[in-house]
Amino acid sequence: MSKSFDIVEKIKQEAGKVNRCIEMDLQLLRKSMEPLLCEILEYGLLAGGKRVRPLLVVMAARLCGNNSEQAYRLGMAFEYLHVATLFHDDIIDNADFRRGRESVAKKYGNGIAILAGDFLHARSMYLVGDIAGQRGLTSFCNATSAIVDGEFLQLKNAAEYNLSEFDYYKAVMGKTGVLIASACEVGAIYGGGNDKQINGLKTYGEKLGSAFQIIDDLLDYLGDSEKTGKAVGNDLAEGKMTLPLILSLSAADGPDQARVQSVIADDLLRTSSFDEVRKFIEKYNGFVKARNYAEQDITEACQQLEMFDKIMQEETAFLGGLAQYVLARNV
Ligand code: IPE
Ligand code: IPE
Ligand code: MG
Ligand code: MG
Repeated sequence: MSKSFDIVEKIKQEAGKVNRCIEMDLQLLRKSMEPLLCEILEYGLLAGGKRVRPLLVVMAARLCGNNSEQAYRLGMAFEYLHVATLFHDDIIDNADFRRGRESVAKKYGNGIAILAGDFLHARSMYLVGDIAGQRGLTSFCNATSAIVDGEFLQLKNAAEYNLSEFDYYKAVMGKTGVLIASACEVGAIYGGGNDKQINGLKTYGEKLGSAFQIIDDLLDYLGDSEKTGKAVGNDLAEGKMTLPLILSLSAADGPDQARVQSVIADDLLRTSSFDEVRKFIEKYNGFVKARNYAEQDITEACQQLEMFDKIMQEETAFLGGLAQYVLARNV
């Protein structure tokens, strides 16, 4: 049995426990909440999803010595916030598909998607405060603020046809990295870790989160939408400059650069020139270079696990395996 097969199986197993936790919570909510709200929550929450953030919470807690089942509920809160951001993100990005089916916004309308996202956001905060206390809630709320700030930066970036690596990275950390880092940090806080362990796991999460978004951006060009459950080409259509394109533009010769910049500046051309831009990125090695960045992040993430190595081998192996899975994923 190969190592990568092991981690996929283990992720599936642990994700099953998160799913059961969500199902139980939905059962409780059905007793008092509006049926339509419950229908949307079920549609959005139980339609797949890798459950990366909840698993990080559970494993970080375990790595710090806390094995309790309540960690899955804390993890669920991170999935709730994540899914709330997806409901809203698909409105912002005009995305019709998510997790292999119509996005909530497409199926039920923007108003419903906003409200259901707000509900999940509120419930996630309640759960984190209840389970992880003030210190956990502070990290969680800071992450939520960072997501909104990152999304605003990305809106500003979309009007910039010469985006720097620095601005790209800043938006990535805001919209994706900080929540993944917070999942690790709050798991460690709940788990009773010391400051060195908490900070180490937070840094692991920051690096993992950065790699996670870089790979997501590669999949937007190279992925199979049957597997990822979302459309390809959306980033370019929305005028989002991601790392493969940024790196290719800075390496390109004058005429190639001018041509692609004129595509990016034109709403209609962006949608019709996806293949051309993909070939341009291939020509200038942008996909390979972007993957190298993600690999570097993953190496640095895994260095943070060294302090735990000898004490908690199984959990360290899980987080190391998850980091490799983030690099290798096609879903
Ligand atoms: C998608 O996140 C949004 C990003 C931050 C890139 P995931 O790739 O974790 O989505 P699910 O939860 O598996 O659907
Ligand atoms: C998602 O970013 C980040 C948040 C939801 C905050 P993207 O817009 O790049 O992710 P996908 O491709 O829609 O999943
Ligand atoms: Mg987005
Ligand atoms: Mg999006």
